[in-house]
Amino acid sequence: MKLLLIGSGGREHAMAWKLAQSERVEHIYVAPGNGGTATTAKCSNILEENYLQFAQDNNIDLTVVGPEIPLAEGIVDDFEAVGLKIWGPSKAAAQLEASKAFSKDFMQRHKVPTAAFESFHNYDAALAYLEKQEDKVVLKASGLAAGKGVILPETKEEAKAALKELMLDKVFASAGETVVIEERLEGPELSIFAFSDGKNIQLMPACQDHKRALDGDEGLNTGGMGAYAPAPLATQDIIDEVRDTIILPTINGMKAEGTPYVGVLYTGVMLTKNGVKTIEFNCRFGDPETEVLMPLLESDLLDVLEASVEGRLDKQTIVWKDEAAVTVVLASGGYPQAYEKGKTIKGLAHTDNLVFHAGTTLEDGSYKTSGGRVLNVIGMGQTIKEAVDDAYQGLKTIDFDAMHYRKDIAFQALAKKDR
Ligand code: AMP
Ligand code: GLY
Repeated sequence: MKLLLIGSGGREHAMAWKLAQSERVEHIYVAPGNGGTATTAKCSNILEENYLQFAQDNNIDLTVVGPEIPLAEGIVDDFEAVGLKIWGPSKAAAQLEASKAFSKDFMQRHKVPTAAFESFHNYDAALAYLEKQEDKVVLKASGLAAGKGVILPETKEEAKAALKELMLDKVFASAGETVVIEERLEGPELSIFAFSDGKNIQLMPACQDHKRALDGDEGLNTGGMGAYAPAPLATQDIIDEVRDTIILPTINGMKAEGTPYVGVLYTGVMLTKNGVKTIEFNCRFGDPETEVLMPLLESDLLDVLEASVEGRLDKQTIVWKDEAAVTVVLASGGYPQAYEKGKTIKGLAHTDNLVFHAGTTLEDGSYKTSGGRVLNVIGMGQTIKEAVDDAYQGLKTIDFDAMHYRKDIAFQALAKKDR
C-alpha cells in the first residue's frame, strides 16, 4: 500500500517509523515531513500542499493526518467526498478540539465530568462574570491557538488583563472571539489516548507529558518537553473511570448526535480530589506522547488504522509491549520564545537510541535545526527508571549550539531516591 502522512513533527516521524515496519506498506509520502522522515526506510518527503490532488494522482491507498488544523478544516470530509480513504475525525467531530465552547457544551449535554464553566462572546458580560468569581479561574480562547490559548491567571487583575488581550486586543485573532472561563482544578494530569472507529474504542497505555520548559515544572508552557508511558499514576481503577465516565460517553454522544468520532481521541484529564475531570479533548495524537506510544506498540499500526477507518476496531487485537518508554525532547535554546535555527546537529550517528526528529531538516547530507523542539531521544526499559536512564545515556553523544533539555523527565513516576 501507498500512504500519505500529513505533518512535520516528532509525532509524524514516530508514526512514519512505525507504519514503515508494516509488511503491507510499500511507500509513505510525508507532507512536508522533516529531516527524520527524509531518511526513514520506505519514506520520502513531499512539498505538495494540495493533498487531495496528490492522493488522487499517486493512487494513495490511505491518508493519515497528524496535526489538528487540516482536521478542523475538514480534510476528512473532502477526501471521503471523492471516495478516498483517510484516517481521522470529520470536521464536525474535530470540533471537540477546534472549539472549546463546543467541547464544553458537549460535555455538559452528556454529563462528562469537567471543570464548571461559562462561555462568552461578549467582553462586558465576560468581565462582569469575572468580577463575581471568588476562586481562581482559567481563561481559554475557544478556537485553535497553537496550544497557547489557555491562560492560568494567579490574580483577578491578571485575569482581567488576559480577558482584554483575548477579546479586545485579539492576540489570538478569531480564536479568541469566544472565551471559556472555567473553574481552576488541581491535581496531576494524564494524557489518555483511544483509537475509535465511531462506535468501538481501544485505549492505549496512559502517558504523562511535561509542558513546562524547565526542571521542576518551572518556566513557560511549551508543546511538551518529554513524556513517558505507562504512567504508574494511571491505576486500573483510574483507567476504568476515564473510559466509563469520559471516553465512552463521548464516543456514544458523538455517534448519537450524528457526528461519529473516528481516529484517535486524546483526552487530557486531571485527577482531582473530586474524581477524574476532563481538561481538554484533542482530535489527534499528542506530541511528544506519540514518540513513546509508537515504540510500545507491538501490533501493526496500519492494521489498527484500517480497522478504525473501516468500523471494525472491536475485532482488532492491539498488543502493547510490557515495557516502559521515555522521550526527552532536545530543544533550541530560548524555546518556547525566540530561538535561532540552522544549527548543525552533531553526533546523531553515534547514539544507539531511537531518535525521532521534530524541528530538523536534511541539507547536503547533514541535519540542521529548524524548530523549537528539535529531537526526541527515546529510552526503553523494563521499568520507567531503566527507560529514563537509557534516554539520558543515549542523548550524551548528541549536540547542537544552545541545545536545551529537561533533566527530570518522568520525575513523577520515580521514587524520590531515583530523581
Ligand atoms: P490545554 O491547552 O487545554 O491542554 O491546557 C493547557 C494546560 O492548562 C493543561 O495541561 C492544564 O495544566 C492547564 N489547565 C487547563 N484547564 C485547567 C483547569 N480548568 N484547571 C487547572 N488547570 C487547567
Ligand atoms: N502533548 C501535548 C499536545 O500534543 O497537545
